Amino acid sequence: MNSSYRIAPSILSADFARLGEEVRAVVAAGADWIHFDVMDNHYVPNLTIGPLVCEAIRPHIEVPIDVHLMVKPVDRIIPDFAKAGADVITFHPEASEHVDRTLALIRDSGCKAGLVFNPATPLGWMDHVMDKIDVVLLMSVNPGFGGQKFIPETLNKLRDVRARVDAHHSETGRTIHVEVDGGVKADNIRTIAEAGADTFVAGSAVFGARDADGGYRGILSRLREELAAVARAS
Ligand code: DX5
Ligand code: ZN
Repeated sequence: MNSSYRIAPSILSADFARLGEEVRAVVAAGADWIHFDVMDNHYVPNLTIGPLVCEAIRPHIEVPIDVHLMVKPVDRIIPDFAKAGADVITFHPEASEHVDRTLALIRDSGCKAGLVFNPATPLGWMDHVMDKIDVVLLMSVNPGFGGQKFIPETLNKLRDVRARVDAHHSETGRTIHVEVDGGVKADNIRTIAEAGADTFVAGSAVFGARDADGGYRGILSRLREELAAVARAS
Protein backbone atom coordinates (compact mmCIF):
# COMPACT_ATOMS: atom_id res chain seq x y z
CA MET A 1 0.00 0.00 0.00
CA ASN A 2 1.28 3.47 -0.88
CA SER A 3 1.79 5.75 2.08
CA SER A 4 0.92 8.94 0.21
CA TYR A 5 -2.46 9.82 -1.19
CA ARG A 6 -3.31 12.19 -4.01
CA ILE A 7 -6.50 14.20 -4.41
CA ALA A 8 -7.31 15.23 -7.97
CA PRO A 9 -10.21 17.68 -8.33
CA SER A 10 -11.99 17.23 -11.66
CA ILE A 11 -12.49 20.55 -13.40
CA LEU A 12 -15.65 19.17 -15.00
CA SER A 13 -17.48 20.74 -12.05
CA ALA A 14 -15.46 23.98 -12.04
CA ASP A 15 -16.78 27.36 -13.18
CA PHE A 16 -15.60 27.24 -16.80
CA ALA A 17 -15.89 30.99 -17.18
CA ARG A 18 -13.16 31.38 -14.54
CA LEU A 19 -11.07 28.27 -15.10
CA GLY A 20 -7.60 29.73 -14.39
CA GLU A 21 -8.78 31.17 -11.11
CA GLU A 22 -10.57 27.92 -10.22
CA VAL A 23 -7.53 25.68 -10.72
CA ARG A 24 -5.31 28.10 -8.80
CA ALA A 25 -7.80 28.12 -5.95
CA VAL A 26 -8.03 24.31 -5.60
CA VAL A 27 -4.25 23.95 -5.83
CA ALA A 28 -3.80 26.65 -3.17
CA ALA A 29 -6.31 24.69 -1.08
CA GLY A 30 -4.20 21.54 -1.34
CA ALA A 31 -5.08 19.67 -4.56
CA ASP A 32 -2.27 17.34 -5.72
CA TRP A 33 -3.29 16.85 -9.34
CA ILE A 34 -5.82 18.53 -11.62
CA HIS A 35 -8.06 15.98 -13.30
CA PHE A 36 -8.98 17.03 -16.86
CA ASP A 37 -11.98 15.22 -18.39
CA VAL A 38 -12.01 15.09 -22.18
CA MET A 39 -15.31 13.96 -23.73
CA ASP A 40 -16.06 13.70 -27.45
CA ASN A 41 -19.84 13.18 -27.80
CA HIS A 42 -19.03 9.85 -29.46
CA TYR A 43 -17.32 7.55 -26.99
CA VAL A 44 -19.37 9.23 -24.24
CA PRO A 45 -22.59 11.24 -24.60
CA ASN A 46 -21.09 14.58 -23.62
CA LEU A 47 -18.66 17.11 -25.06
CA THR A 48 -16.09 19.02 -23.02
CA ILE A 49 -12.61 20.42 -23.50
CA GLY A 50 -9.47 19.77 -25.52
CA PRO A 51 -5.75 20.60 -25.75
CA LEU A 52 -6.33 24.35 -26.12
CA VAL A 53 -7.91 24.50 -22.69
CA CYS A 54 -5.15 22.33 -21.22
CA GLU A 55 -2.60 24.75 -22.64
CA ALA A 56 -4.56 27.69 -21.24
CA ILE A 57 -4.59 26.40 -17.65
CA ARG A 58 -1.01 25.06 -17.71
CA PRO A 59 0.68 28.36 -16.71
CA HIS A 60 -1.70 28.79 -13.76
CA ILE A 61 -0.53 25.72 -11.82
CA GLU A 62 2.56 23.63 -11.22
CA VAL A 63 0.88 20.38 -10.13
CA PRO A 64 0.45 17.55 -12.66
CA ILE A 65 -2.45 17.74 -15.11
CA ASP A 66 -4.12 14.34 -15.28
CA VAL A 67 -5.85 14.07 -18.66
CA HIS A 68 -8.65 11.49 -18.78
CA LEU A 69 -9.46 10.82 -22.42
CA MET A 70 -13.04 9.68 -23.04
CA VAL A 71 -12.55 9.80 -26.79
CA LYS A 72 -12.55 7.34 -29.67
CA PRO A 73 -10.28 7.03 -31.57
CA VAL A 74 -7.57 7.91 -29.06
CA ASP A 75 -4.16 8.19 -30.75
CA ARG A 76 -4.57 11.29 -32.93
CA ILE A 77 -5.04 13.66 -29.99
CA ILE A 78 -2.26 12.36 -27.70
CA PRO A 79 0.69 14.42 -29.02
CA ASP A 80 -1.49 17.55 -28.83
CA PHE A 81 -2.15 16.99 -25.14
CA ALA A 82 1.52 16.27 -24.47
CA LYS A 83 2.43 19.57 -26.15
CA ALA A 84 -0.31 21.32 -24.19
CA GLY A 85 1.37 20.36 -20.91
CA ALA A 86 -0.37 17.15 -19.81
CA ASP A 87 1.63 15.06 -17.32
CA VAL A 88 -0.56 11.97 -17.13
CA ILE A 89 -2.75 10.68 -19.99
CA THR A 90 -5.24 7.87 -19.45
CA PHE A 91 -7.57 6.26 -21.98
CA HIS A 92 -10.23 3.57 -22.17
CA PRO A 93 -8.67 0.43 -23.71
CA GLU A 94 -11.81 -0.52 -25.64
CA ALA A 95 -11.60 2.89 -27.38
CA SER A 96 -8.16 2.06 -28.85
CA GLU A 97 -7.53 -0.40 -31.69
CA HIS A 98 -4.00 -1.09 -30.40
CA VAL A 99 -3.68 -0.64 -26.65
CA ASP A 100 0.04 -1.42 -26.46
CA ARG A 101 0.75 1.11 -29.23
CA THR A 102 -1.34 3.82 -27.56
CA LEU A 103 0.50 3.30 -24.26
CA ALA A 104 3.82 3.59 -26.10
CA LEU A 105 2.65 6.74 -27.86
CA ILE A 106 1.80 8.39 -24.52
CA ARG A 107 5.10 7.40 -22.92
CA ASP A 108 7.11 8.43 -25.97
CA SER A 109 5.41 11.84 -25.72
CA GLY A 110 6.98 12.19 -22.26
CA CYS A 111 3.81 11.58 -20.23
CA LYS A 112 2.80 8.94 -17.71
CA ALA A 113 0.29 6.50 -19.18
CA GLY A 114 -2.76 4.79 -17.79
CA LEU A 115 -5.71 2.58 -18.62
CA VAL A 116 -9.26 3.45 -17.56
CA PHE A 117 -11.75 0.75 -16.65
CA ASN A 118 -15.48 1.40 -16.87
CA PRO A 119 -17.62 -0.37 -14.28
CA ALA A 120 -18.21 -3.36 -16.60
CA THR A 121 -14.80 -3.39 -18.33
CA PRO A 122 -12.79 -6.47 -17.29
CA LEU A 123 -9.34 -5.98 -15.75
CA GLY A 124 -7.79 -8.46 -18.19
CA TRP A 125 -6.95 -5.52 -20.48
CA MET A 126 -3.99 -4.78 -18.22
CA ASP A 127 -2.56 -8.31 -18.12
CA HIS A 128 0.11 -8.03 -20.81
CA VAL A 129 0.93 -4.34 -20.51
CA MET A 130 1.60 -3.90 -16.79
CA ASP A 131 5.15 -2.71 -17.45
CA LYS A 132 3.81 0.11 -19.64
CA ILE A 133 1.19 1.39 -17.21
CA ASP A 134 1.85 4.12 -14.63
CA VAL A 135 -1.77 4.58 -13.54
CA VAL A 136 -4.87 2.41 -13.37
CA LEU A 137 -7.99 4.56 -13.33
CA LEU A 138 -11.06 2.75 -12.09
CA MET A 139 -14.39 4.34 -12.98
CA SER A 140 -16.86 4.16 -10.13
CA VAL A 141 -19.62 5.65 -12.33
CA ASN A 142 -20.32 5.31 -16.03
CA PRO A 143 -18.26 7.97 -17.79
CA GLY A 144 -19.85 11.09 -19.25
CA PHE A 145 -21.11 13.22 -16.40
CA GLY A 146 -20.11 14.60 -13.04
CA GLY A 147 -22.30 14.34 -9.97
CA GLN A 148 -23.28 10.65 -10.28
CA LYS A 149 -23.55 8.16 -7.45
CA PHE A 150 -20.62 5.87 -6.57
CA ILE A 151 -21.23 2.26 -7.74
CA PRO A 152 -20.45 0.04 -4.69
CA GLU A 153 -19.27 -2.98 -6.75
CA THR A 154 -16.21 -0.83 -7.60
CA LEU A 155 -14.80 -1.73 -4.17
CA ASN A 156 -14.43 -5.43 -5.08
CA LYS A 157 -12.80 -4.53 -8.37
CA LEU A 158 -10.52 -2.09 -6.57
CA ARG A 159 -9.25 -4.82 -4.22
CA ASP A 160 -8.44 -6.89 -7.32
CA VAL A 161 -6.54 -3.97 -8.91
CA ARG A 162 -4.62 -3.34 -5.69
CA ALA A 163 -3.56 -7.00 -5.54
CA ARG A 164 -2.37 -6.87 -9.15
CA VAL A 165 -0.34 -3.68 -8.81
CA ASP A 166 1.16 -4.83 -5.50
CA ALA A 167 2.21 -8.13 -7.12
CA HIS A 168 3.73 -6.15 -9.97
CA HIS A 169 5.56 -3.97 -7.46
CA SER A 170 6.98 -7.02 -5.66
CA GLU A 171 8.21 -8.45 -8.96
CA THR A 172 9.60 -5.30 -10.56
CA GLY A 173 9.84 -2.52 -7.97
CA ARG A 174 7.60 -0.34 -10.18
CA THR A 175 4.82 1.70 -8.59
CA ILE A 176 1.50 1.97 -10.42
CA HIS A 177 -0.98 4.51 -9.06
CA VAL A 178 -4.51 3.28 -8.41
CA GLU A 179 -6.98 6.09 -9.07
CA VAL A 180 -10.75 6.08 -8.54
CA ASP A 181 -13.08 8.40 -10.46
CA GLY A 182 -16.77 9.08 -9.85
CA GLY A 183 -18.92 9.82 -6.84
CA VAL A 184 -15.97 10.23 -4.45
CA LYS A 185 -17.10 12.24 -1.41
CA ALA A 186 -15.99 12.91 2.17
CA ASP A 187 -18.31 10.17 3.42
CA ASN A 188 -16.91 7.37 1.23
CA ILE A 189 -13.27 8.30 0.52
CA ARG A 190 -12.10 6.37 3.57
CA THR A 191 -13.76 3.12 2.41
CA ILE A 192 -12.33 3.64 -1.08
CA ALA A 193 -8.84 4.14 0.33
CA GLU A 194 -9.19 1.04 2.50
CA ALA A 195 -10.09 -0.96 -0.61
CA GLY A 196 -6.81 0.06 -2.24
CA ALA A 197 -7.01 3.45 -3.99
CA ASP A 198 -4.20 5.97 -3.57
CA THR A 199 -5.44 8.69 -5.94
CA PHE A 200 -8.94 10.18 -5.74
CA VAL A 201 -10.75 12.17 -8.39
CA ALA A 202 -13.42 14.40 -6.89
CA GLY A 203 -15.38 16.79 -9.09
CA SER A 204 -18.70 17.83 -7.57
CA ALA A 205 -17.46 17.16 -4.02
CA VAL A 206 -14.66 19.73 -4.37
CA PHE A 207 -16.05 22.34 -6.75
CA GLY A 208 -19.52 22.02 -5.18
CA ALA A 209 -17.98 23.39 -1.96
CA ARG A 210 -17.21 26.73 -3.66
CA ASP A 211 -19.75 28.65 -1.56
CA ALA A 212 -19.82 26.35 1.45
CA ASP A 213 -18.33 27.17 4.84
CA GLY A 214 -14.56 26.81 4.46
CA GLY A 215 -14.81 26.63 0.65
CA TYR A 216 -12.19 24.57 -1.20
CA ARG A 217 -9.84 24.55 1.78
CA GLY A 218 -12.59 23.16 3.95
CA ILE A 219 -13.51 20.25 1.68
CA LEU A 220 -9.90 19.39 0.83
CA SER A 221 -8.89 19.29 4.48
CA ARG A 222 -11.97 17.16 5.26
CA LEU A 223 -10.97 14.68 2.51
CA ARG A 224 -7.37 14.70 3.80
CA GLU A 225 -8.47 14.02 7.36
CA GLU A 226 -10.38 10.96 6.20
CA LEU A 227 -7.28 9.73 4.36
CA ALA A 228 -5.07 10.45 7.35
CA ALA A 229 -7.32 8.22 9.44
CA VAL A 230 -6.74 5.34 6.97
CA ALA A 231 -2.98 5.95 6.99
CA ARG A 232 -2.95 5.91 10.82
CA ALA A 233 -4.91 2.66 10.95
CA SER A 234 -2.69 0.81 8.46
C1 DX5 B 1 -16.95 11.29 -15.36
C2 DX5 B 1 -15.62 11.95 -15.13
C3 DX5 B 1 -15.32 12.28 -13.72
C4 DX5 B 1 -16.26 13.26 -13.08
C5 DX5 B 1 -16.28 12.99 -11.61
O1 DX5 B 1 -17.02 10.80 -16.65
O2 DX5 B 1 -14.58 11.09 -15.59
O3 DX5 B 1 -13.99 12.73 -13.59
O4 DX5 B 1 -15.94 14.59 -13.28
O5 DX5 B 1 -17.23 13.81 -11.06
P1 DX5 B 1 -17.83 13.54 -9.63
O6 DX5 B 1 -16.72 13.57 -8.65
O7 DX5 B 1 -18.80 14.65 -9.47
O8 DX5 B 1 -18.51 12.18 -9.67
ZN1 ZN C 1 -12.47 11.58 -15.13
